[in-house]
Amino acid sequence: MNWVPEVASNLASKVDAVIWFITVISLVFFILISIFLVYFAIRYRRRQENEETPYITGSHVLETIWTIIPSILLIVIFVYGFVVYKDMRTPPEDSLEVTVIGRQWLWQFKYNNGKTTLNELYIPEGRPIKLVMTSEDVLHSFFVPAFRVKQDLVGGMYTYLWFTPTKTGTYELYCTEYCGTGHSTMLGKVIVMSPQEYEKWEKGEEEKAVASLPPAELGKQLYTQRGCNACHSIDGSSLVGPTWKGLYGHEVVLQDGTKVTADENYIREAILEPQAKMVKGFGPVMPSFKGVISDDEISDLIAYIKTLK
Ligand code: CUA
Repeated sequence: MNWVPEVASNLASKVDAVIWFITVISLVFFILISIFLVYFAIRYRRRQENEETPYITGSHVLETIWTIIPSILLIVIFVYGFVVYKDMRTPPEDSLEVTVIGRQWLWQFKYNNGKTTLNELYIPEGRPIKLVMTSEDVLHSFFVPAFRVKQDLVGGMYTYLWFTPTKTGTYELYCTEYCGTGHSTMLGKVIVMSPQEYEKWEKGEEEKAVASLPPAELGKQLYTQRGCNACHSIDGSSLVGPTWKGLYGHEVVLQDGTKVTADENYIREAILEPQAKMVKGFGPVMPSFKGVISDDEISDLIAYIKTLK
């Protein structure tokens, strides 16, 4: 049975240790107090009518003991927690920095080599990572359970967190601050690679294993990878944005009442400049994907939309 999530960062075991420490202390006292409670209830129950309890005055020894022991325990818990907290708030000097931008409803990551990724954070194993984070709109919160790190993203200021990933693999990233309709779909992945793999990725030499897939298949992957699914359904239902089902080749009514046909150029413009031709009945909430996704990816998405009849 897994009591806690997987341990995949240097901080995870420290956080777990504090939690177990407090849990065990609480459990020991809970059991002790419960046993005494039941014992006293039976031992000193009323046995006959008119039974009088003896008059007992306070005991300084007892009161001193039950004041000092819990005080010491609380101080130990505080100091232990504070030491770990301080460690978690102090990134090492040689940390690898990645900028994180949260917006309704996707994660954007910017790397030193100029790369930008959406909803997927790529980092090397065994190196301290410092995330410098901000929001373009409302509050979001970056949470990776396997790393035991969580931090709010706030518009107009930078917040940060750090950790050293200790295991290669893919880990879940959640937004844990309610940020509107698409909050529950504001999910991402953290991909921890070996240092060699990361070096290749940084230089853009990673193998394009997916390049052999047909464009519509790639588009289908991008639909979730790029966070389109937060606002656009593929089953005809209206979410925050219009559905993609039956979109291609059909007429779309715009806010000013004019109609346009949703062809390749319309979809391309809608991705790059979402506010240029607003669809009637929907608000101006979509961020521009200019500079965030490539022309290739736009073509793949269009190919995918064409299959959604
Ligand atoms: Cu972003 Cu919840």
